[in-house]
Amino acid sequence: MARKPGVLAAPLAAPAVSGSESFANDVIAGLSASPKRIPPKYFYDSEGSRLFEEITRTPEYYPTRSEHEILRMQARAMVQHFPTGAALVEFGSGACIKVRFLLDAARKLKAYVPVDIAGDFLNTEAATLRNSYPNLAILPVVADFMKPFALPDVVADLPKIGFFPGSTIGNFEPHEAASFLRHAGTILGAGAVMVVGVDLVKDEAVLNAAYNDAAGVTARFNLNVLRRINRELGGNFKLDAFEHHAFYNRDRKRIEMHLASRARQRGTVAGASFEFRAGETIHTENSYKYSPQSFAALARGAGWTLLDSWTDAKGNFAVCALGQP
Ligand code: AVJ
Repeated sequence: MARKPGVLAAPLAAPAVSGSESFANDVIAGLSASPKRIPPKYFYDSEGSRLFEEITRTPEYYPTRSEHEILRMQARAMVQHFPTGAALVEFGSGACIKVRFLLDAARKLKAYVPVDIAGDFLNTEAATLRNSYPNLAILPVVADFMKPFALPDVVADLPKIGFFPGSTIGNFEPHEAASFLRHAGTILGAGAVMVVGVDLVKDEAVLNAAYNDAAGVTARFNLNVLRRINRELGGNFKLDAFEHHAFYNRDRKRIEMHLASRARQRGTVAGASFEFRAGETIHTENSYKYSPQSFAALARGAGWTLLDSWTDAKGNFAVCALGQP
């Protein structure tokens, strides 16, 4: 098939069927695989999104607070890299909270383009932002940012800045992270700048605690994906028959989250039956950790150079500004 210029030939994620059909397909495929797995994007039903917010307020989960500290302290330095009259495009904008640090510091932006798959929520957040920034064009785009999407025509001729905070990039395998950065470069166009939040390699005790908070919020977040499968896909998983396992994998520089079966058991979902050995796990998430150098190398392989990076006082987290040579 001919490749259209400026558009990825194939989506990075599974092709879109209807929402629940791809959820069912992905769960059945993942539980049929060995080792068993469920993609982390399915954590975020409304209860999962609420639990994630709760995780960010636990004393152990440092990434959100560290990134906020960096954005608060360094926003002025970051916007030095922004061309004047640019459009800022956020990949997966959610509640559009972090971007306020950049919007407050970058007085000469022309437009903010939040891209998110949750359309109703996106339009509500856009309306709220319009009240705070009456002189900025706020142009939401409802799309899965992992797939090719079009920017609004009115920003076509403006220089672009990409924003991808939260260390969401850590959920991708490194080669997927590189494809995502390449894809973002294609959408943003030549001369773009990209600001990315990256969680850093650090003391393993700090990493392990962040994903094993004492109040058990992360455990509830992990188990909630089974609750969602039971509700949306007619599953019969017994939540108390699985337990939360999260640990730092030193060789692969990632936190792994799993749901471990407490006993030999079966579970069914959408008519398919799966057998679990005692101790067998479902791998539910990877959260890769980088050094500023290893992230710069990954970005270089995807056509970007590291312009600058900033960390919090403890050196927990980095915000990186990437540019195109
Ligand atoms: C939203 C992907 C950045 O990897 O730290 C938090 C998700 N998982 N606790 C992360 C998460 C368990 C989070 N990200």
